[in-house]
Amino acid sequence: MFIADQFVGSLEVAQTPDKTTTPDNLNFYVDVLRGLSAPQKRISSKYFYDAQGDRIFQQIMACEEYYPFKCELEIFQNHSAELARQLMEGGSDTDLIELGAGDGQKSVYLLQALSRLKACYTYVPIDISGSMVAYLTSHLGSMVPDINVSGLAGEYLPMLQQAARRSANRKAVMMLGSNLGNMLPVDALKFCESIRALLNAGDRFIVGIDLKKSPQQVLAAYNDKQGITRSFNLNLLTRLNRELNADFNLGQFEHFPTYDPESGSCKSYLISLQEQVVRFCLQDRTDCIYFQKYETIFTEISQKYSLAELGKMAKMAGFEVIHNYYDANGWFVDMVWEAKQA
Ligand code: AVI
Repeated sequence: MFIADQFVGSLEVAQTPDKTTTPDNLNFYVDVLRGLSAPQKRISSKYFYDAQGDRIFQQIMACEEYYPFKCELEIFQNHSAELARQLMEGGSDTDLIELGAGDGQKSVYLLQALSRLKACYTYVPIDISGSMVAYLTSHLGSMVPDINVSGLAGEYLPMLQQAARRSANRKAVMMLGSNLGNMLPVDALKFCESIRALLNAGDRFIVGIDLKKSPQQVLAAYNDKQGITRSFNLNLLTRLNRELNADFNLGQFEHFPTYDPESGSCKSYLISLQEQVVRFCLQDRTDCIYFQKYETIFTEISQKYSLAELGKMAKMAGFEVIHNYYDANGWFVDMVWEAKQA
């Protein structure tokens, strides 16, 4: 048996993983073990989205308490014509680049509005999932006449860099679904600065983000009565058991969401219900993680912002806010930011 820290150190220099590992799950393993060896145990929320996690997330979006998806859908249904006109002001060819495009359920309204305007644009969906990009490329044509799709599969910033290199067109980058809220505020600002660095003055950044509101309402969205979000969180452990040969006992961990209305930080944890040791057996070695009773694993932040905080973030990252679109309840906002002269 190895102590986690030593194991993480030795994994980093491993050259030839044996047949039970691939370079992908080796990185996954190192990342997970490093997170579980930290004083505050954590697992990145990016690991929620295996095939089962994707399915559960679809159920979350449909469930009664999870309002952000419905709010933003309403914004795109009601305001796409105006947003399309605003994006096409100036008239030159535009690349509409969507970070985390998914199945394009909301963006399709904007794409249809652009098509009605006969706008000259190329839609560039970027998604970590190659199959999502392939799906959009093959299906959008039947919903949006004359659409030109040129997708990229991979991580947001490297793919945006590639998109910026391959055309000199004006750019409108979209990041919907409050995905920015899944970063700590300090990282969200750095991310917006990186986006700005890849754009020219006058380019746009459309950010869809959840707003601060009744604390009970926020908390209920991450603690739905049917337990869908609970299974989403616990599915992380199922994934570690399957892909990293761990032995988490799911009955010994509990989903625990929190919301701090002052900071707007909505965080989810998995709580160890007893003192226990969890083993990871990959390659020819075993790695052990010790849990105290009630020790927490931090699994996700879903940060909520006030409009003033978002305005400040836009300014600090080198953008100016030019328009805000809201749902009828004013719970969610899609902001249009314009890149300022550096
Ligand atoms: C994808 N992301 C913006 C969702 C959120 O609200 O943070 C993920 C989610 N986690 C639990 N419910 C939904």
